[in-house]
Amino acid sequence: STTPVKVAVTGAAGQIGYSLLFRIASGDLLGKDTPVQLQLLEITPALKALEGVVMELDDCAFPTLAGVEIGDDANTVFDGANLALLVGARPRTKGMERGDLLEANGAIFTAQGKALNEVAADNIRIGVTGNPANTNALIAMTNAPDIPQERFTALTRLDHNRALSQLAAKTGSTVRDIKKLTIWGNHSATQYPDIFHAEVGGKNAAEVVGDQAWIENDFIPTVAKRGAAIIEARGSSSAASAASATIDAARDWLHGSPAGDWVSMAVRSDGSYGIPEGLIYSYPVVTKGGDWEIVQGLEIDDFSRGRMDATAAELVEERDAVTGLGLI
Ligand code: NAI
Repeated sequence: STTPVKVAVTGAAGQIGYSLLFRIASGDLLGKDTPVQLQLLEITPALKALEGVVMELDDCAFPTLAGVEIGDDANTVFDGANLALLVGARPRTKGMERGDLLEANGAIFTAQGKALNEVAADNIRIGVTGNPANTNALIAMTNAPDIPQERFTALTRLDHNRALSQLAAKTGSTVRDIKKLTIWGNHSATQYPDIFHAEVGGKNAAEVVGDQAWIENDFIPTVAKRGAAIIEARGSSSAASAASATIDAARDWLHGSPAGDWVSMAVRSDGSYGIPEGLIYSYPVVTKGGDWEIVQGLEIDDFSRGRMDATAAELVEERDAVTGLGLI
């Protein structure tokens, strides 16, 4: 089709934005045959920097980029958006308590949820990358009553990709050999990367590894704390990898997860696997044409149960905190 797809991105002048926009504009998200219109939201003080990024986008002369609009008003920037990638968020700064962080981000995602509700296209899909991603998605979803709840997702694909890469290294395989890996729960240190249902070259991954101590003491903490390790090494948080995962997640959501495999995505819980209904919880999902379905029927042993419940408990706490603040 020749009608451009309108992709809104928030926090567009930030670190992740600097990787993400160029990949969307070059066709990595929607393909080389689909023109894309970028609609970029920033806070007022960052608009000048964003103008510089737009100059660079122009200078790339991407054939797929149909146009770029920027602004600091969500009701204008989200107008007619088909896909919204909510990346911009308030980082935790020195002296900020967790409650302050939830409150600052709550204000952002309340306003953006309302704006999407008002002006986005009927087929809008929303992916939240900005942290705390799951709870920010919950806030936006709750403030957008006219948008079907399944249109809101939060990013755990970076965790999924990190887990793929760790497991490939451990088993001497490539990421292509690995299927059916799952990140359960919150995009936080309580997340549960699960290889008990995964396959390496068609064989059960946990059996191929054959080392429960490695799973518990090495693999899970390495994946869950990878963000902190990147900050320690690079001096700033993961950006190119987060942008790449944001693309992977949106692309698979719109165009379908690979046959014989699934992906991890935080979606509204319907109570599957005993997780409280209504939380934005990362599940194994199969996607197609902008829809997703939670993979059902996986056998959950006591070890996995404990991890899945612990990360759910953290999300319940976050939900209670934002409910207490009157944000949802
Ligand atoms: P950054 O600080 O470089 O950029 C964030 C941008 O958002 C800034 O330019 C800021 O001006 C903008 N912003 C703030 N409030 C806004 C608002 N109300 N509307 C529009 N824009 C707004 O941060 P970076 O590195 O790009 O990360 C962005 C977010 O992504 C952070 O919350 C970070 O924690 C999160 N993140 C999530 C990951 C995940 O896997 N879910 C992985 C890595 C980062």
